[in-house]
Amino acid sequence: MRIGVLTSGGDAPGMNACIRSVVRSGLAAGHEVVGICRGYSGLLAEEFFQGEDSDGRMTLRSVSDIARRGGTILHTSRSQEFRTEAGLRKAADILRKHEIDALIPIGGDGTFHGAVALARFWDGRIVGCPGTIDNDLLGTDYTIGFATAVQTAVDAVDKLRDTADAHERMFLVEVMGRHCGSIALFSAIAGGAEIAAIPETPTRIDEIIRLLHEFVRRRKTSVMMIVAEGDERGGAVELQRQLQELGCPYETRVLALGHLQRGGSPVFHDRLLASRLGGLAVRSVLEGKTGVMAGEVGGRLVLTPFEETYAAHRQVDPEDIRLLEIMAT
Ligand code: F6P
Repeated sequence: MRIGVLTSGGDAPGMNACIRSVVRSGLAAGHEVVGICRGYSGLLAEEFFQGEDSDGRMTLRSVSDIARRGGTILHTSRSQEFRTEAGLRKAADILRKHEIDALIPIGGDGTFHGAVALARFWDGRIVGCPGTIDNDLLGTDYTIGFATAVQTAVDAVDKLRDTADAHERMFLVEVMGRHCGSIALFSAIAGGAEIAAIPETPTRIDEIIRLLHEFVRRRKTSVMMIVAEGDERGGAVELQRQLQELGCPYETRVLALGHLQRGGSPVFHDRLLASRLGGLAVRSVLEGKTGVMAGEVGGRLVLTPFEETYAAHRQVDPEDIRLLEIMAT
């Protein structure tokens, strides 16, 4: 078989480890693996991996020492053309022309929407791997890149706490996650923050002000509030404005971590998950599976139809919200 692999959408630490796993698992099983550059845009432009053979084929050596690197050696993009029927038909023709039998796209919900659309015009097998820092897909407990993004946020919160404490200030730290508060909630608990504003639960400014006065009464010198960029009340700058309007008792500063969270060497959890899921994706296409995402749920490797991975927003665990409240004393 000729198996194509590509990375698409926002990059996530661990994508390289996943590419490496797909390439080495495919070669170990006696098949060819072709690298497609720049996601679906690169597929439409027929941009293949330039290795020793320059025909897109990846070798054992072409993925040497990449598991520890952030970003993606195949590069990534978001493609408008791939959303059109003409673009999808063209992509299907290109896959046939290059005799690709199976595709392993590594990405998030946009990538899997694209995979489902492509399957209308191409009868090759498609098995995806969840590569996104957002952790917003169903069918896996964690997505590849999430753990590293949370670690990056926690490191930032640790550092900010020093200066916040020195100046007796409150920091609003904005983290990524368009529709999902996972990064915010996990980094708030792990980083010892007092408050998290996430899209899954209503953010009550009056409640936060009440809590802040309580903190002052308890002689708390600094406060860390983690804001998910997709909070229904807006990002950290907007929340800072709303807090000030209602009489925030702390002097405030804002920091948006932005794309910092997408970079850096992946933590072990992301490398391990990426390696496992890349291997599962290859085994699955070889077994004839298609239209599914490889994931890990409760320690077990599972396949979930693409449509189910993005059918609903992942819910945050109410116990985690409660835990954060208990810890923030
Ligand atoms: O989906 C991953 C993500 O990093 C989101 O958390 C964020 O909202 C978005 O991508 C940013 O996208 P861009 O790469 O276009 O800046």
